[in-house]
Amino acid sequence: SEQGKLFIVSNRLPVNYNDEAPAGQRLKASSGGLVTGLREIHEQSDSLWIGFLGQLQGQDPELESYLKEHNLVPVHIRPKVYDKYYNGYANGTLWPLFHNFLASMSISDGHWKSYVEANHAFAKAIIDLLSPGDRIWVHDYQLMLLPQILREHQNDLKISYFHHIPFPSSEIFRAIPRRSELINGLLGADYIGFHTYDYARHFIQSAKRVAGAKTKINEIMFQDRPIKVAAHPLGVDFKAFAKTKSLGTRILERLRDSDRITFLGIDRLDYTKGLPERLKSFARFLELYPHFVGKARLIQICVPSRQNIGSYNKIRSQVERLVGKINGEFSRSDYIPVEYIFRSIPQEEVIELYQQADVMVVTPLRDGLNLVAKEYVAARTDGDGCLVLSEFAGAASEMGEALQVNPYDIETVAHTLNHALEMPPKERRERMQALRKRMKEHDNINWAQNFMAMWSQHEMDTRVNS
Ligand code: UDP
Ligand code: G6P
Repeated sequence: SEQGKLFIVSNRLPVNYNDEAPAGQRLKASSGGLVTGLREIHEQSDSLWIGFLGQLQGQDPELESYLKEHNLVPVHIRPKVYDKYYNGYANGTLWPLFHNFLASMSISDGHWKSYVEANHAFAKAIIDLLSPGDRIWVHDYQLMLLPQILREHQNDLKISYFHHIPFPSSEIFRAIPRRSELINGLLGADYIGFHTYDYARHFIQSAKRVAGAKTKINEIMFQDRPIKVAAHPLGVDFKAFAKTKSLGTRILERLRDSDRITFLGIDRLDYTKGLPERLKSFARFLELYPHFVGKARLIQICVPSRQNIGSYNKIRSQVERLVGKINGEFSRSDYIPVEYIFRSIPQEEVIELYQQADVMVVTPLRDGLNLVAKEYVAARTDGDGCLVLSEFAGAASEMGEALQVNPYDIETVAHTLNHALEMPPKERRERMQALRKRMKEHDNINWAQNFMAMWSQHEMDTRVNS
């Protein structure tokens, strides 16, 4: 197009390469909200997607042609640096802090240095491919320094940034030792988006306090450049999740065979997802409403995630201990209350699970958005089903018709699980209809188009005013 090319830049590409897997099975679809959110958008435009693919040793001609065909460009980072950047800084320092887990934030100068180095490696990969007029859309907390690095390389570049996780209040943010570098890094962009107004507000406040920037309600003045800050909650690929196709897989076979009631949870195994609290709430529900013992079960899918980090291994053992404890206590000869699955599952299977579950339980302690909640609603083409949703998920602000809960309040969540089952069908359907309508209107394509349009608008306004 006349505007030049769009670069989508994120730490993770939509596929992941594992050179230890047998030939033919080395490429695997990536998990997580960022990838599900951007995949379709990338496929529909002629963008280039730049990101980390995994460690590559030697040549793999099949891989090369796959990447070319899908407009994917891998960034190369040495294993040691990648480990300190990804496990160390991005997920050991930024992730806990940004989710309000201040006490879990690890601080290491070595990790920071690798974070800087990795952000420079991304910059170099982009700069090698740049032509005049190109636009660069940077994604997420792994790349907070990248906008400024690119700006320093060429002052008139068109750069935007979207933050997929929460931005904490400035009271929490200011605890991070490299706070000004991080804020300055982002302020290299012209247009910055968050999932909610709260996150946008928190960021603006932090820019003011930490970097001394001049701020307005939705704008930051920095080094004589106006930077627009806005809320753009990511939407779901509504059509894809509203597809019905019967697979008859093993988990689902059992599901359909019985007249049992199913609660469903689908999460990356992360300490932010509130899994121990959810399991305790389910156990408490069985205690408070014993007539559901033998009838209601929880299917909990946990997608393996960041397994080289201690806190993730700790939460995994905690979850598995609790599953064992609950099953030990409530199992009957033909009844297992918690069906726990620790692996990733293909999207068609996820959709079928959504369509079979009576109640979807999404109870993170903190979550940037949570696409799973939106996908569940999109998948309910039958207009039925009930969503229990944490008020601490970014998606809560657009999903007022869900049964919203405080996930720390185990007693109330237990009662809410019962309420979800006892709700009159008419009310249940009305809530679902309202949610479906909103999710359909604000889908992922709509989100990207909106973001791009507002970004261009800001560029034009800036040019007129300068
Ligand atoms: N998902 C996946 N593999 C699975 C199960 C789920 O890729 O085995 C997808 C799910 O459909 C959703 C995403 O992972 O699109 C999770 O996004 P969410 O925003 O809920 O949480 P995140 O993992 O980004 O924290
Ligand atoms: C969240 C983050 C993404 C990340 C995803 C999966 O959605 O916002 O940036 O890609 O989790 O995590 P991973 O560490 O496997 O990329």
